[in-house]
This record gives sequence, structure tokens and C-alpha cells, in this order.
Amino acid sequence: MPRNLEHDMLATPTPGDEARQRFILAMKNHLGGQLRPQLRKVYDAQAKPGYTVRAGHEPDDTASIAEALYDNNIYQAWSSLYRAAQERMWSSVKAPLDRERSALEQNYAGYAKAPKGSLELSDEVEAPEAIKKVDIHLQPGGYTLDEGPRDIMAGALYEAGGRLYSQGVGVGTIESKAECVMRFVKEWAPDFHPTRILDMACSAGSSSVPYALAFPDAEVHGIDIGAGLLRYAHARAEALGAKVHFHQASVEKTGFEDQSFDLVVSHNAMHEMSVETQQRMMTEAYRLLKPGGICIHQDVPLRFEKLDPVMQVIHGWDQNFNGEPFWSAYGTNDCQAMLKHAGFSEENIFVGPFEQIDQSFSWFLAAGRKE
Ligand SMILES: C[S@@+](CC[C@H](N)C(=O)[O-])C[C@H]1O[C@@H](n2cnc3c(N)ncnc32)[C@H](O)[C@@H]1O
Repeated sequence: MPRNLEHDMLATPTPGDEARQRFILAMKNHLGGQLRPQLRKVYDAQAKPGYTVRAGHEPDDTASIAEALYDNNIYQAWSSLYRAAQERMWSSVKAPLDRERSALEQNYAGYAKAPKGSLELSDEVEAPEAIKKVDIHLQPGGYTLDEGPRDIMAGALYEAGGRLYSQGVGVGTIESKAECVMRFVKEWAPDFHPTRILDMACSAGSSSVPYALAFPDAEVHGIDIGAGLLRYAHARAEALGAKVHFHQASVEKTGFEDQSFDLVVSHNAMHEMSVETQQRMMTEAYRLLKPGGICIHQDVPLRFEKLDPVMQVIHGWDQNFNGEPFWSAYGTNDCQAMLKHAGFSEENIFVGPFEQIDQSFSWFLAAGRKE
């Protein structure tokens, strides 16, 4: 199944929108893929010597390395362009959605009338402060954007931006993150056949749907804190013929019964959470699993321990300039320890990279199987 599915909750870009999007994609590829690795040379040749003259000593920790780089003209130019490309990415996907907003809202209302799955929203679910206050990765309005009972914009933006962004960082398009995780499960636990599946922090439901399609006899649930994300996720799943039950709930306290799921997953969620929330999500996943059940938390392959301090600062750009308040907290987390703390025993834990089927990219997986 291709990573980016076509369905009628997507807006249709004009040739002009498509040209802008192609330009932004090329710009992001160039700035992120070609130029970012060169910043190391800029640091060695200019930023470090400049700092050393000014301060009387070499930069000796990430704070002074950051100070040295942020003061450098080439870094400043790269950083401004990279930020501008991200802002342009959002405006290029928002324009078609703004034009077709009322038609998409009508589609949502149509799907909500006779659904295969379901949607349960709740006024009582509080999003974490940082998620409410920050437009995460500069998405306009952030994850909690909610402008009325038919509003689907948060989810529509998330999916449209994600499609463009993932191409910009070189993720292949023939396998979704969920399919990659399902392939991992087949290798890790060949005897495993889930009948009840939970997708935590499901956002627009792009990862929930592949589970529902791959396991048509299983009951699939998705939770998130954003109502606008969930309305869209619900309509999108219906448009794709997938039966998913979406609920507005926190990953820390889902409200489901103990031992009620065989498989609990989260996709690209840890990097949007404080370490305390990541831990509580893993502990909640453990509580929800039946004996023999599996949880897998998949995310981007950002591991600060594999980078020297200069590259940590270069890859920490998202935290300071791209609205990613938990980027470093995720990059330095200890998933092995967190899974153990949640209740999994050492021999039933896998933490490490797992490659996409086309070898374009490796995801980071933190998995545990309950005894
Ligand atoms: C990067 S998105 C997840 C993408 C999605 N899983 C996918 O595969 O397409 C991160 C999501 O985490 C959600 N989130 C953050 N904190 C949460 C919490 N405490 N409880 C539930 N969802 C949360 C956000 O609302 C957002 O939708």
C-alpha cells in the first residue's frame, strides 16, 4: 500500500499550488539534505575560530557551540531559509484547503451520518500546555486548532503538510510507518495476531487506517487530544473504507480497561511529548496490554548519543526554530529504561532502528512484549 493514499478529504491543488509545492520540496531537500551537513565545515572553519578569538577559549559545551554557530553569517542565512521554507510549506498546503474548506466540512458531515467506525469527542480532555501554546512544527493553529463542530482543518493541514514534509526529508513513499511496524512485528513475533489495536496520539489517523485495513477482523481504536484532528481522522478513515473508532483522550489516561488490547502503537508521537508524558504513555500502554500483547512506539531516528556536540547543536535546530519543544527531550530519552520502568522485562524489549522496505530511511522503534 502506498504511504500517501488518495481520498476525498484531500483538497485538489491548482497547477499554481503544485508548482509552489514542488519548489518548496526542492528547497527543503537542498537545505536539509545537501546544505545542513556542510554546516559542520562552517563551524570548523569560521564559527569556532571566531568564538575562540572573542571569548579567549574554544567552545567547550553545546551552549557555547550554539553561541558560536548562531553568530555565524552562513549559519544565520541557512537557518533563515530553512525556517522560511517550513513556513512556505504550510502556506502552500493551506491555500487549497482554505479554498475547499466548506466542501471538506460537508464531506465530514456526510461521513459522520452513517459511519463504519465512530468518533467520540470530550470537552474534558486537557492538552498539555506546550501543545496548546506552540504551533508545533509551525503548523498554523497547532494541534489543538478547533473552530467549531464541523472543523477539520487541524487534521487536513497535518496530513497535507506531512505528505510534503516526508518527501522533503527523503522518506520513501511505498510503505507507511504503520506497515513498517507491522513488518517488524511479523519478524519479532511471528505467532502474533492482534484482535484489538490502539493507536496512541493518532493525529489525522494516517497510521490507524493501515492497521484497520491489514486486520479487518480486529477492532481498531485511535486516540488524540485534538478535536479538529479527530474529526478529520474519522472522515478520512471512512473515506478510505476503514473501520476505526476515534476518541479524544490523553495518552497518559486513556480510559480503556486493563488488559484490553493485544497491540498498542504510537507513531511519531514521542518527539511531541515531555519525557514525563512519554513515560506515562508507555506505562499506560503496558496497563492496557493483555498478557502476550505488544506495544511499539515508533519515531524519527534522532539519537543525540550518536552525534558529537557540534552535530547535536546542528540537529537541535528544530527545538529552537521549528516549534518542536520536545525535540531534545526525545533525542536524549532512554527508551530501554522507560519500557523497563513501565513493566516490561529486559528480554522482551527491542530498542533500535528498523529500515523501511525500500531502504530509504530507518525509523526508531521502542517495543515491549508483556509476559
Ligand atoms: C506527530 S503527531 C502523530 C502522527 C500520527 N501518529 C501519524 O502517524 O500520522 C503527534 C500527535 O501527538 C498528539 N499528542 C501530543 N500529546 C498528546 C497527549 N498527551 N495525549 C494524546 N495525544 C497527544 C498531538 O495532538 C499530535 O496529533
